[in-house]
Amino acid sequence: MKLFVTGGAGFIGSNFILYWIKNYPNDSIINFDKLTYAGNLENLKSIEKNPKYIFIRGDIADSNLVVSSMAGADIVVHFAAETHVDRSIMGPSEFVKTNVLGTQVMLDAALRNNVKRFHHISTDEVFGSIELETNIKFSEKSPYNPRSPYSATKAGSDHLVRAYSETYELPITITNCSNNFGPYMFPEKFIPLAITNLLEGKKVPIYGDGLYVRDWLHVEDHCRAIDMVLKKGKIAETYLVGGMTQLLPNIEVIKKIIKIMDKDESSIEFVKDRPGHDRKYDVNWSKIKNELGWEPQLSFDIWLEKTIKWYVDNKEWWQRVKKGEYQKYYDMQYGFL
Ligand code: NAD
Ligand code: TYD
Repeated sequence: MKLFVTGGAGFIGSNFILYWIKNYPNDSIINFDKLTYAGNLENLKSIEKNPKYIFIRGDIADSNLVVSSMAGADIVVHFAAETHVDRSIMGPSEFVKTNVLGTQVMLDAALRNNVKRFHHISTDEVFGSIELETNIKFSEKSPYNPRSPYSATKAGSDHLVRAYSETYELPITITNCSNNFGPYMFPEKFIPLAITNLLEGKKVPIYGDGLYVRDWLHVEDHCRAIDMVLKKGKIAETYLVGGMTQLLPNIEVIKKIIKIMDKDESSIEFVKDRPGHDRKYDVNWSKIKNELGWEPQLSFDIWLEKTIKWYVDNKEWWQRVKKGEYQKYYDMQYGFL
C-alpha cells in the first residue's frame, strides 16, 4: 500500500510516519511538506534512508505539484496545516491559505488520482468552547462554532472534505482530536513550552486565571486511532478522539509538570489572557471506542512522565528548534517575561 502523508515533518505527522513504518514496514510513504517553521526533518532522521520512504518539499496549495506527487497513492492522510492559535491571532491569512485553500487543492488532487481513501485530520476546536460549570462534551453531533482564526479555518476544511464526499463521492473519513502532546511537539505549544522553559530555568507563562481546560491526548494513542479509522472506519464518517478520563485545568497540569521535574511553583507566571480564549474542550470518544475498539493505552500521568523524560533526553532537538525563527516569535509573544 502507498500512503501520501501531508505535514509529515510536523509534530503529529512525523510521529505518524514513524509509527506506520514500524508497524507496516512493507508499505511505502510519501511525505509531502512545505517545511514551514513547524516542519523539521530531524524528526525523521532514523528513517530518511529507508527505501520505502520519500520526502517531497512542496506547498499543499500548489495544485500541479500536489497532483503529480500524489500519483499512485492509495491513501491520503492530510495533516498539513497552520496549527498554533496564538499565531493565527497575530496573522490569520496564512491559515486561510493553507488550511482552507490548501485542503481544497488536496481534495481535487485526491479525486483526480482516484485515491481509495482521503483521511482528514482535524481538531475538537471546531466545536467552540464549553462553559466550565457544565458537563457537556463534544460529540460527532455537536454543532460547529469555531472562535479563533485557527479553528475557523479548520472548520472550513472539514466542511470542504464533507462537501467532496457528498458531491463527488470522494471516499473520506475525518478525525477531530483533542490537544495532543508527546515527542517532537514544537515548544510554542503549552506542554513542551512549559517543560523546556523549566529545563532552561525560565518562567512558565499561564494565560489568564489558568482555569482553562484541555482534553489531553498522547500522540501515540492518536496515531493508533488514525490507524484504526483507516483500517476499520466507515467511509464518510467522522470520529472524535480524546484522551482524558478526568479533566485538569492548565494550572494543575503545570503543577504536575513542576512536581515531576522537581522544580518550584515560583516558576509559574500568570500573564495576560489570549483574546477569545476557549474555556474548555471535552471530548466524548465513545463512538471510536464502541465501534472500533480504540481507547488510550496509558493514563495522562504516565504519558506526561514519559513526555518529560523525552524532552530531558533530547535537549539538542528542542534547543536547536528554540533558536532562530522561534526566538523572534517568543519575543513577540512573551518578551515581557
Ligand atoms: P505542526 O504545526 O507541528 O506541523 C504542521 C506541518 O505542516 C509542518 O511540518 C509544516 O511544515 C506543514 N505545513 C504547513 N503548511 C503547509 C503547506 N502549505 N503545505 C505543506 N505542508 C505544510 O502541526 P501538528 O500539531 O502536527 O498538527 C497536525 C494536524 O493535526 C493539523 O491538521 C492540526 O490542525 C491537527 N491537530 C493538531 C492538534 C495538536 O494538539 N497538535 C490537535 C488537534 C488537531
Ligand atoms: P495551546 O498548546 O496553544 O493549544 P490550544 O490553544 O490549541 O488549546 O494551549 C493549550 C492551553 O494552554 C490553552 O488553554 C492556552 C494555554 N497556554 C498558556 O496558559 N500559556 C502558554 O504560554 C500557552 C502557549 C498556552
